[in-house]
Amino acid sequence: MKLLSKTIVASALVVAMIGGAVAQESVATLRSGVALDENAKPPQIPAMTNNDLRQVRNYPEQPPLIPHKIEGYQIDINANKCLQCHSRSAIGESQAPMISITHFMNRDNQFLASVTPRRYFCTQCHVPQLETDPLVENTFVDVDQVLEYVAGQQKEEK
Ligand code: HEC
Ligand code: HEC
Repeated sequence: MKLLSKTIVASALVVAMIGGAVAQESVATLRSGVALDENAKPPQIPAMTNNDLRQVRNYPEQPPLIPHKIEGYQIDINANKCLQCHSRSAIGESQAPMISITHFMNRDNQFLASVTPRRYFCTQCHVPQLETDPLVENTFVDVDQVLEYVAGQQKEEK
């Protein structure tokens, strides 16, 4: 019995060690192949995308990406820089898109007169982008492509 549990512990250890080695390898790829005990040359900090072009949403519920710089924009109990342009009353002057009606709805589905507390911290959901290449490969496809694929499959079945 004792021997059996020792074997189990030993094999668990081997599995953990192999797992660790694999994890180490995948971390190393983000370090451009530089060994873990050496300092890699830090990459240049990329610029924040600031082209003012609204981006296509990948699916209807996606919070739209921020197409402008937000460095130093204050969002706390005293001030919300975003609302200085995106609130209902500000858009005449700023010509920014207004926060949508969902941003006025509290958790009991009641519409408030101003932004609901659960939508106050804009950057919880909305993020700016950086002018850089993705660090890892990404095979995400747009929902339109998924629909096309499903339609194709259904045709084949008929
Ligand atoms: C100085 C005014 C101003 C401020 C401050 C500002 N925005 Fe904007 N925002 C705009 C304008 C104008 C646009 C329209 C596109 C453009 O011109 O960049 C825009 C576009 C956006 C969009 C894209 C909307 C869409 O439908 O694609 C998002 C999201 C957004 N802003 C979020 C924010 C957040 C979050 C903050 C605060 C961190 C913020 N903005 C602060 C003016 C502003
Ligand atoms: C909990 C997540 C969340 C938070 C917090 C949030 N948003 Fe949004 N926002 C969304 C989603 C999801 C959408 C797209 C669907 C919709 O309109 O509700 C959106 C849409 C928008 C749009 C586009 C509206 C349109 O009609 O095209 C703007 C502009 C925007 N948000 C700005 C803001 C600003 C400014 C804040 C902070 C005061 C904020 N959002 C906080 C999730 C969020």
